[in-house]
Amino acid sequence: MSDRGPVAVLLCVAVACAPHKPDDRDPNPVRFDGTVPVAGAVAADHALASAAGAEVLRAGGNAVDAAIAAALASGVVNPSGSGLGGGGFVLVVPPRGEAMVLDFREVAPAGATMQAFAEGASSTRTGTAVAVPAEGIGLDEVHRRWGRTPRAVIAAPAVRLAEEGFPTGAHLAASLEAAPDMRVLFDTGNRRPALGRALRAWAEHGGEPFRSGWIAQDFVDTVQRNGGTLTLADLAAYAVEPRTPLRGAWGARTVITMPPPSSGGVALLQLAATVGPDTSLHCEVEATKHAMADRAAWGGDPRFANVPVASLLAPSRVAAVVADCGSHTFAPDHYGARVTPDDHGTLHISAMDAEGWAVALTTTVNTSFGSHLVAPQSGIVLNDEMDDFATRLGTPNAFGLVQGDQNRVRPGARPLSSMTPTVVLDAAGRPELTLGGSGGPFIITATWQVMRSVLEAGKTPDEAVGAPRWHHQWQPDAVLAEAGVPTEALRAAGHDVRLVERPFSAVQVVQAAAGGFRAASDPRKHGAPAFSAGPTAR
Ligand code: GLY
Repeated sequence: MSDRGPVAVLLCVAVACAPHKPDDRDPNPVRFDGTVPVAGAVAADHALASAAGAEVLRAGGNAVDAAIAAALASGVVNPSGSGLGGGGFVLVVPPRGEAMVLDFREVAPAGATMQAFAEGASSTRTGTAVAVPAEGIGLDEVHRRWGRTPRAVIAAPAVRLAEEGFPTGAHLAASLEAAPDMRVLFDTGNRRPALGRALRAWAEHGGEPFRSGWIAQDFVDTVQRNGGTLTLADLAAYAVEPRTPLRGAWGARTVITMPPPSSGGVALLQLAATVGPDTSLHCEVEATKHAMADRAAWGGDPRFANVPVASLLAPSRVAAVVADCGSHTFAPDHYGARVTPDDHGTLHISAMDAEGWAVALTTTVNTSFGSHLVAPQSGIVLNDEMDDFATRLGTPNAFGLVQGDQNRVRPGARPLSSMTPTVVLDAAGRPELTLGGSGGPFIITATWQVMRSVLEAGKTPDEAVGAPRWHHQWQPDAVLAEAGVPTEALRAAGHDVRLVERPFSAVQVVQAAAGGFRAASDPRKHGAPAFSAGPTAR
């Protein structure tokens, strides 16, 4: 993969390399300080995207409408991480009724084969990297099921940003510095008029233009001109999948999270089951190595592969992982077969409202600016989600890692994901915390650490997302640690600890609190949350 730099460079592009400074704050902010009742909160990874969500709350939308608005706006202001050329997952906990996931992740086109990649097709650039774009179709379906505000109101802030322009934030500036070819997305006024037309089409017609209309044709023409196989039939056949979320008890609380084809929810519940308040950092890292080795061996699309979720979360498995932690760490073979999957990029939005909706929405174009292909009529950046498959068994992907056979390329299959949209219910069964993150496999460890920090250590969302984090993904066999993580005991237990200068994940959190909601957007990506004032039911 000669077009991929070392892990640190990719991570730098995935999140941010400039000093922490919020991008473009909401011009009309309400801040939660315990004095003004806060009726809703949206935490995206860009202040203007959070503000788009808060605007829709103020216009009478619920948290679902707000999260969609934030996702559409993010695709305008942070196109390196997400947009209408990608796909995602949303976890919705309604005020009444069952929690549900809608999976609008991209799938492999009918013409995609392992053979093509074995013969040298790229999984990160050109048309062969592009999986069936599903975000326009998916967000429409999310709206159809749970939204209550017209699509035109939801899309309005994104249309405005695309048509009127916006200040280049620190994250976008850093992303463009690493990918100068992507400056083509913006005119001299930092506007994106073609994308504005596509957003207006979404507002007027929902997902249809993305499935069979002019935008679908734009996707197909662009991919085929660049050597890929995407067809209108692939888009016509695309199905959004409703899924039952995973649920796990965590003390008196319940963690509701993402099932396969993400590996994130299983790993998060494994960590919640194996790590307690008294667990040492060494044993927490050991549990993470087991969870990530399981991810590598078993992760895949449940429609095509047997993903043994129940055994991975069984009490006997949890007890074995807990008992396995000794005074010293082990070599990778101890934890499982020698394969490791991976991915990166992405955006997470958390939203909650006083009516009781809790929404965790994670979307992605995979690596920064996806395939770097831009569909010219719609101005949409096309994903490189094919790299989340094991496109070449035994050969490293974007993170220099090797993926498992369960996750091989199959037409119509969804590639293994790490995205971990999560809602935690309190002991009374009410949504207490909504969170998730970006950063490929770092999503899993980052979401876990922030969840634990807020709910177990009692930190505020700001404190929790701002705290230094560590990561282990089993292979490479190293703990990556930000400055400030206490690493002495880890070194003493034999871990290879590598300090990471660049941040590597970004988590967004909304927490229910007396008088409203607290929220935080990760300073690593310069985000800021936004709020709407008003009576709160809590
Ligand atoms: N492409 C990032 C993920 O799905 O995990």
